[in-house]
Amino acid sequence: MTQEELFKKLVAHCKEYGFVFPSSEIYDGLGAVYDYGQNGVELKNNIKRYWWESMVRLHENIVGLDSAIFMHPRTWEASGHVGAFNDPLIDNKDSKKRYRADVLIEEWIEKQNEKIAKEVEKARKRFGETFDEVQYRTTSPRVMEVAAQRDAIHSRFVRALSESNLDELRQIIVDCEIADPISGTRNWTEVRQFNLMFSTQMGSTAEGANTIYLRPETAQGIFVNFLNVQKTGRMKLPFGIAQIGKAFRNEIVARQFIFRMREFEQMEMQFFVRPGDEMRWYDHWREWRMKWHRSLGFGADNYRFHDHDKLAHYANAAADIEFNFPFGFKEVEGIHSRTDFDLSRHQEFSGKKLQYFDPESGESYVPYVVETSIGLDRMFLQVLSAAYVEEVLENGEERTVLRFPAPLAPVKVAVLPLVKKDGMPEVAREIVDALKYDHNVTYDEKDSVGKRYRRQDALGTPLCVTVDGQTLEDRTVTIRHRDTMQQERVAIDVLPRIVDEICSMRSLLKNLA
Ligand code: GAP
Repeated sequence: MTQEELFKKLVAHCKEYGFVFPSSEIYDGLGAVYDYGQNGVELKNNIKRYWWESMVRLHENIVGLDSAIFMHPRTWEASGHVGAFNDPLIDNKDSKKRYRADVLIEEWIEKQNEKIAKEVEKARKRFGETFDEVQYRTTSPRVMEVAAQRDAIHSRFVRALSESNLDELRQIIVDCEIADPISGTRNWTEVRQFNLMFSTQMGSTAEGANTIYLRPETAQGIFVNFLNVQKTGRMKLPFGIAQIGKAFRNEIVARQFIFRMREFEQMEMQFFVRPGDEMRWYDHWREWRMKWHRSLGFGADNYRFHDHDKLAHYANAAADIEFNFPFGFKEVEGIHSRTDFDLSRHQEFSGKKLQYFDPESGESYVPYVVETSIGLDRMFLQVLSAAYVEEVLENGEERTVLRFPAPLAPVKVAVLPLVKKDGMPEVAREIVDALKYDHNVTYDEKDSVGKRYRRQDALGTPLCVTVDGQTLEDRTVTIRHRDTMQQERVAIDVLPRIVDEICSMRSLLKNLA
C-alpha cells in the first residue's frame, strides 16, 4: 500500500468510525472545516489532557488561562498581524489553482534531498559493507551536482524571504521549472501577499460598527493578560501561562484533511524569562517538547527538528518539531524565542506598562518570552496516523486496529456479555458501573464476540472484558488485550486496578518525570 492509499484509508476510517466528519456535510461541506464525532472528541479531549497536565500540573511555575476569541482590534495592530500576517501566493493560469509560493519552493528543495537519498541508497546496495556514505556524498559527481543546485536555490530562497522579494520568489519557481501538479504547466501569475485573518463586525452599524478579527493565534490573549496573571498569582520569573483554544486563519491552500484548517485549535504556552536567559530556556523547551512527543512511543525516527530559515517578525530563534505523516515530514509544533517583541508592542499601543519588578535585582523590565505552540488537530492526525495499522492475522483474517497509547484511547474498556441472557448482561452492566466513574467505558451486546472485538480494534479500545458462563459461577471474566490479542482470566474485583494501571494518564505523565 502506498502512503497516499494509506492516507485515503485513514480519512475514510475517521468518517466511518465517528472520529472526524466534514463540516455541514449535508450541504456538501465547507472547505478546510471539520467536525469531531463521538470518538474524535474523546481522543481530542485526551490529547488536551495529556498536554494540559504535563504542562500545567507537572510544572509548578506554569498556570492556565482561557481568554476570549474576540480581542480589541488594536491587539492585532500591535502584534503585527494586521501588517505582516501574510502568505505569498501564486496562481497557475491554466488550472486556476492557487499555491503558496514558499511551499512550492520548499517542496522542490525536499525533492532534491530525496533524489540524493535515492542515489546514496543505490550506492549502498552496490558497494555493500565497504560503503562509506560520507565519502560518497562528497565525491559522487551526481550527488554533488544536485546538492550544489539545492544549496544555491536555498540561499536565494532565504534571501528572498527575508527581503520579502516577491519577484525573486517567482523567479526561483521559474528557474526551478516547477510545474503545477494539476495542469502540469508553468504558466504562473505574479506572487502576491494575502492576509490570513478573518474579520467581522462587532455591534450594529447604527451604533458604529467596529471591525474585529477572529484570533489567528491564542498567544495574544496570554500577552495582554501577562500582568493580570503575574500580579494575582504572585508569579516570579521564570513562569509560564498555558492556554488551549480555537484559532482561525483564512488558509488559501487548505489541503491534507485536518492538517491545514481554517478553524483549528492550538495549545500554547508562553514562558516569561529574564532578558538574556531566553536562549537557555529556548533550548530547554525545544528538548522537553520533543521528549513529550517521543514519550507516546511512535518511534524516535518519526520526529525531527526543522530550524527556521526565515524568522517570524517576533522571533530571534525558532524551530519546528516535524512528524513523519503519510504525506512526509511536516510541522506539528513550533518553539519560538519571541524576545520582548509582543509585550513591548502592547505596552506601546495600549500606553499601559507591562513590566515585571524583579525583587532580586530591584529593577523593572519587560520580560522575554519563549513560546511552545502545538496544533491540537495536527497532534490528533499524528496520533491517528501513527496508530493506524492493517494486519493479517495467523488464521489469515484481516483486522484494522488503532494502536493508540492506552491513556489516549477514546474508549478504554468494552464490556461484552457473551450472550444476551442468563444474567450475563446484568453482570456486564455492573462492571460498567464500577468502572465508569474513572474511565470511558462502553457496553456492547450486539453480534458475535469476534465481530465485537474487531469493532473495538477499529476504535482503538485497549481492553475488552467478556462476561461468560464461568463468570456466573466464580465472578471472573476474561480480559482481551487489543495489541497482543492475548486473553487472561481475572476476578471482577481486580478489574479497576488493572484498567487503571494500563489506561490512566499517570503512566504517560510519569514518562516525562
Ligand atoms: N503563536 C505562534 C503560532 O501560532 P504557528 O507556527 O503559526 O505559530 C503553531 O502555529 C501551530 O499551530 C503549528 O505548529 C500547527 O500545529 C498549528 N497550526 C497553524 N496553522 C494551522 C492550520 N491552518 N490548521 C491546523 N493547525 C495549524
